[in-house]
Amino acid sequence: MRILGVSGSPRPGRTTDRVVQEVLAGAGGRTEFVSLAGKKIAPCRACLACVKDNRCRIKDDMVPLRRQLLAADALVIGAPNYFSNINALTHSFLERLCQFRHRDCRELANKYVVVVGVGGLEPHVPVAVISKMLPYFQMQQVGSITAQGAASCFSCGFGESCRAGAVQALYGPDVKITDKLIPDPTKQPEMLFSAHALGRKLAGLVQDKESLLRQAVEMKIQNRQKEVS
Ligand SMILES: Cc1cc2nc3c(=O)[nH]c(=O)nc-3n(C[C@H](O)[C@H](O)[C@H](O)COP(=O)(O)O)c2cc1C
Repeated sequence: MRILGVSGSPRPGRTTDRVVQEVLAGAGGRTEFVSLAGKKIAPCRACLACVKDNRCRIKDDMVPLRRQLLAADALVIGAPNYFSNINALTHSFLERLCQFRHRDCRELANKYVVVVGVGGLEPHVPVAVISKMLPYFQMQQVGSITAQGAASCFSCGFGESCRAGAVQALYGPDVKITDKLIPDPTKQPEMLFSAHALGRKLAGLVQDKESLLRQAVEMKIQNRQKEVS
């Protein structure tokens, strides 16, 4: 069993990374974590070069990721909310799954997915967006987790006085930024507990599928042997 976690945050080690990693920790076994931070992943060009062999021709960091996606039995995909959508980096990554959409989506079809959404105010938005995209690739969502992340406004230096920022939106005009106020996964123990539990559930589902497949193969072999004897 291999479970691949992909975090679309451009900020390494921040909330999206940490929640995706917590789901992987719950899954145990062979897990792999990939951060899209710093990766060059162009959006889909709609050139349709991938139609005949489900292989994208753009040569960028999606090439090794393609191999990791194919090798994975299940995925954890996380994204931050940028302007009430998923961020562009995660969107580009998901657009490039278009290469698998042809010929019945057979490479990705039925892979289980856990979705992670992070936002300063609205963490459910990335979950909603990714959940809408998964059926295009015939992947099966088995659960989702939302977490509050620290908007950049907490560390930009103007967070207390800026009327357009997330700090005042959350705490009003007289806010004083303290460590206690800054959102962090460690301050959301129930969320981390749920993320861990969802990882366990994901691993269990993959194992069940594997054992069903094994049984089906064994039955086929037995039937074949009966036919021959
Ligand atoms: C350009 C930008 C736009 C954002 N827009 C929103 C938004 O519309 N709604 C929201 O809830 N959070 C928004 N955020 C806050 C991020 O979702 C938040 O900082 C989150 O923690 C980022 O994930 P990370 O910590 O894993 O990097 C925005 C952040 C940035 C940098």
